[in-house]
Amino acid sequence: MKNFKRTLITSALPYANGPVHIGHLAGVYVPADIYARYLRLRGEEVAFIGGSDEHGVPITLKAKKEGIKPQDVVDKYHGMIKDSFEKFGISFDVYSRTSAKIHHETASEIFKTLYDKGAFIEQTSEQFYDEEANQFLADRYITGTCPKCNYEKAYGDQCESCGSTLNATDLVDPKSVLSGNKPMMRTTKHWFLPLDKYEPWLREWILEEHKEWKPNVYGQCKSWIDGGLNPRAVTRDLDWGIPVPVEGAEGKVLYVWFDAPIGYISATKELTPDWEKWWKDPETKLVHFIGKDNIVFHCIIFPVVLKAEGSYILPENVPANEFLNLEGDKISTSRNWAVWLHEYLEDFPGKEDVLKYTLTANAPETKDNDFTWKDFQTRNNSELVAIFGNFVNRALVLTDKYYDGIVPAAGELTQYDQQTLDEIINLKREVEKSIDTYHFREALKGAMELARLGNKYLAEMEPWKVVKTDPERVKTILNTALQITANLTIIFEPFLPFTTEKLRGFMNLEKLDWDQLGRTDLISGGHKIKTPELLFEKIEDDAIQTQVDKLLATKKVNELEQAQVSPAKENIEYEDFAKLDIRIGTIIAAEKVAKTKKLLRLTIDTGIDKRTVVSGIAEYFEPEKIIGQQVSILVNLAPKNLKGIESQGMILMAENADGALVFVTADKKIKEGSEVR
Ligand code: MF3
Ligand code: ZN
Repeated sequence: MKNFKRTLITSALPYANGPVHIGHLAGVYVPADIYARYLRLRGEEVAFIGGSDEHGVPITLKAKKEGIKPQDVVDKYHGMIKDSFEKFGISFDVYSRTSAKIHHETASEIFKTLYDKGAFIEQTSEQFYDEEANQFLADRYITGTCPKCNYEKAYGDQCESCGSTLNATDLVDPKSVLSGNKPMMRTTKHWFLPLDKYEPWLREWILEEHKEWKPNVYGQCKSWIDGGLNPRAVTRDLDWGIPVPVEGAEGKVLYVWFDAPIGYISATKELTPDWEKWWKDPETKLVHFIGKDNIVFHCIIFPVVLKAEGSYILPENVPANEFLNLEGDKISTSRNWAVWLHEYLEDFPGKEDVLKYTLTANAPETKDNDFTWKDFQTRNNSELVAIFGNFVNRALVLTDKYYDGIVPAAGELTQYDQQTLDEIINLKREVEKSIDTYHFREALKGAMELARLGNKYLAEMEPWKVVKTDPERVKTILNTALQITANLTIIFEPFLPFTTEKLRGFMNLEKLDWDQLGRTDLISGGHKIKTPELLFEKIEDDAIQTQVDKLLATKKVNELEQAQVSPAKENIEYEDFAKLDIRIGTIIAAEKVAKTKKLLRLTIDTGIDKRTVVSGIAEYFEPEKIIGQQVSILVNLAPKNLKGIESQGMILMAENADGALVFVTADKKIKEGSEVR
C-alpha cells in the first residue's frame, strides 16, 4: 500500500430537488463521516467535502410543477439538506453547492481546458424538440406509452411501472411534458467525451491497479469496460446549468454529470486557498463515497475528465454502497417512500446516534438491505440500551453509590481482569483493519464488542454481591469497568459522536485520541465523575407504530395514485356541507363562448329562476345536444365574470381518470328546484 500524507474524502452531492432521507445517510454520509472522524482522531490531515448538486433536469421539472424558478427550488432544498446534515453531525469541512459562483467558474475552466486541448469531439444529432415551447426536450421532458408494459406515463429515459431503461424514441405516442404536443425531431450540436479512447488506460488503471476495490465496484467497472465504451455527451440543450463556455453554444449548458463532480474541487477551493495540495499532490489520497448508481460517473467518466485535464490526482478508492430499502420497498422521493431526516429529527429528538447506529449496523455494504422500524427498535432496545447503556450505567451508578463518584484505585488485578483489559487492544486492531478497508459494519461490531465485553465482565464479577463479602475487591472491579468505559468513549467516537460526548460528560473526561485506545490507565483513582444519567432510552412500541402507520398512509396514497384516484380530502362538519345549495335544473339554452375552446354559455332553469352559467365543458358536449339535459347546479356560488359573461353558479360534473366529463344528475326526471342534499 502506498503511503499518503493526507486524505481527501468526498461524499456524493445530493440533488437539491428534495430533502435527504435514510438511504442517503446509510449509503454515503454516515460511512464517509465515520471515515473522516476516525482519521482525524488518529491525527491525520483530512478534508471532508460535501455540497448540493443543483443542476439537472429533475430540478427544472420540479420548478415547473411548483410554478417557481429552479433557483428557488435549490435554495429551499439546499437549506434543508444542509440543516439535516448539521443536525446529524455529519462533520463536513465544507458544504457547498453547485450554483455557487466559484463552481460555475471552476467547471467552465475545466471544460475550456479540455476543449482547448481538443479532448472533445463535436457531433450533431437528432433530438426531440417542442415547437410550441421552442426548446429541445430532455428525456425526462417526454412521456409516452412504455413499449414493454404499455404503461401510459413512462418517461423518455425510464418506465417507472416496469423499471425498464428506455430511449425517448422507444416510446409509443411520445408527448412533450411542456405542451402536451407530439415532439418533432431537430438537429443539434453537442460535445462528447470520447471514453472509447481511454479504454486501454481505464483497463490498466482500474482492472489491473485497483483490484482491491470492492467487488460490486470493480465488477461494475469491468462490465462497463468490457461492454465497450462510447463517446458521452457532456453538454445539453437546457436553460438551467452552467453555460457551455465556447462560441456557438448559445442555449446549451454543461451536462449535470460533467459539472457535479467538479463540485468537489470547487468546494475545496471554498474551503482553502491551498486547495491544490488536495487535488494535485500525489501524496493526497482521494476517496469518493457514493451510492451504486453513481459508480460509472466516479470510476470512469470523472477520472477520464481529470486524466484529460492532466494535473489532477485520481481516486484511490471508491467504496460505493448498494441501496437501502424501506420496509421491503425501494426508497423513492417521488413516491414519498422514505424516512426523511428532517422528520426523524422532529419525531426522535436527541436520537441522531440511534439512527446512525442502526444504519451502520445494517449498512448495504455488499448487497441491498432493508430498513424496518422494528429492527430500529430492536437495535436500540436490545443493543444500545441493553448492552452499551446497561454496562456504562452500572459502572457509573455503582461508583456513585459505593464511592460517592470518586474513582477507586485498583488493587491487584486477577488474571481475568487482565485478560479482559488485554482484549481492548485486540478490538482496536480489528476496528482499525475494518475501517481501513471500508468495512464499517464490521468496525461497528468491533466497537460494540467492547461494550459487550464490559457488560459480561460486570455480569460475571457481580460487584453488587461481592461488596458484601470483599469490599476491597470491588474497587478493582469498578476501576477495571471504568477503564473499559473510558475506552468506549474512544472506540465509539467515529460512529456515535453525540453519545461519546455525553459519556465523556458523565465521566468528566476530555476527548481522547485514537492512540490512547487500549490503555488501562485512562482514568485514575481519585478522579471525580458526575452523577450518571441514562446513555440511551428505550423506544416504546407506540413510537414505532406511529412511524409504521405513517408509511401505511403513504402506501394508500400511492395505490390510489397508481389507480388514478385522488385521495380523500380532510373531514368537514355537516354544517360545512349544509352551506351548499345544490338544485336540480334543466339546460334550456347552450352556445359556445366565442374565441374559447372550452367554454359553453348555458341558460338553466333552476326552478328558482332562469340564469346564465359559463361552464368549461365545450370539449365534451355539442351545445345543441344538451338542451333539455337535467343537471345539478350549485346556486349559491358567488357570481363570477368569465370572458365578459357573468356566470351565476356552477353545474356539477364527474371527471374520470382521462379527464372526460359527465353530468351529475338525478336518475329520473324531477321537478326543477329540487334540492340535492
Ligand atoms: N446528485 C447525484 C445523485 O444524487 C450525485 C452527484 S455526485 C457528484 O445521484 F459527484 F456528481 F457530485
Ligand atoms: Zn414499462
